[in-house]
Amino acid sequence: MKGPKPLVEIVATGRYLPERVVTNEELERMVDTSDEWIRERTGIRERRIASQEQTCAEMGAEAARIAMCRAQVHPGEIDLIVVSTATPDRLLPSTACDLQALLGASNAAAFDISAACSGFIYALSVAEGYLAAGRGEIALVISTEKMSGITDWTDRSTCVLFGDGAGAAVLRRATNGRGLISQFMRSDGTLAELLWRPAGGVKVPLDHQLLDERMHLVKMAGREVFKAAVRSMAEAADQALLRAGLTGEDIDLFVPHQANIRIIEATARYAGIPMEKVFVNVDRYGNMSSATVPIALDEAQEQGRLKPGDNVLLVAFGAGFTWGSAVLRW
Ligand code: ACO
Repeated sequence: MKGPKPLVEIVATGRYLPERVVTNEELERMVDTSDEWIRERTGIRERRIASQEQTCAEMGAEAARIAMCRAQVHPGEIDLIVVSTATPDRLLPSTACDLQALLGASNAAAFDISAACSGFIYALSVAEGYLAAGRGEIALVISTEKMSGITDWTDRSTCVLFGDGAGAAVLRRATNGRGLISQFMRSDGTLAELLWRPAGGVKVPLDHQLLDERMHLVKMAGREVFKAAVRSMAEAADQALLRAGLTGEDIDLFVPHQANIRIIEATARYAGIPMEKVFVNVDRYGNMSSATVPIALDEAQEQGRLKPGDNVLLVAFGAGFTWGSAVLRW
């Protein structure tokens, strides 16, 4: 087998998707858009939207329980919970602590990381380091996103893009040659204002005027973000392959962040991976920020697209900007 020896493996995954399907046709009735425009520019046909009351922690717990059940792991055995989310239920304390309580993981450290759409790759890397250093036996990585809660439903340039969902993975130290064989992460904070929520933190606290101006919701310079995403995801794919000692030809399944089919196709082309080996579900779910990669992994596993020993490339890009990648031996 090519590539470095893995130290940490994904034992099992799980996912949760809200029941409510919102189609492009439904959005046509809300903003000045069309199904044709959305499908041509993004590849999205529909997305799932959580109910008003549903929290990020509740969605994450649903996904985590499935992953834990498949891994045959009890809550008390979990040493670490890392949650990636761009839409925490509140700013203090973390969504990870809510999840710790919901799951009854009484022996776990728990914290959130904020890396937007790259969050699963970042969380995976942090948990891998923790387990590889011998600080624990079992970690739970959960990516849970309620993008509908930070979306401006009057802004056609963003509201057609996002969806809600959660994905989870149980990690433990590798024993049989399976696991994470390379990873890569980068960031560029100088470009923060191309994709951000301008108000709502301590720097720009919310007031009535800012609320009326919807400055607490996502703003995006789509074209600039698109260009940066293609550039950064290409670099990330290159770096993860290089560090794993592999080329695009060695990859059995490519699981990219699902923001836009055109970004996915451009990244696959650059990495030399044919589209038959690319997992795509952006058409059904839209961009669920960091939850896209673990949900796609979970669906790929369920559809029999992952066999033991397969080389799997994960690549993501998001606000920050952040980007990152990993190669897993499945
Ligand atoms: N329906 C119809 N027309 C629209 C819509 C819409 N929903 N949205 C924008 N338009 C119009 C624009 O107003 C513009 O009209 P104009 O030419 O008259 O000014 C025209 O369509 C073209 O707009 P662009 O923004 O240039 O369209 P583009 O081809 O770039 O596609 C898109 C827009 C889909 C947003 C694309 O830029 C994109 O995918 N960007 C990247 C998004 C992304 O990957 N984000 C990842 C990170 S997300 C995160 O981290 C949370």
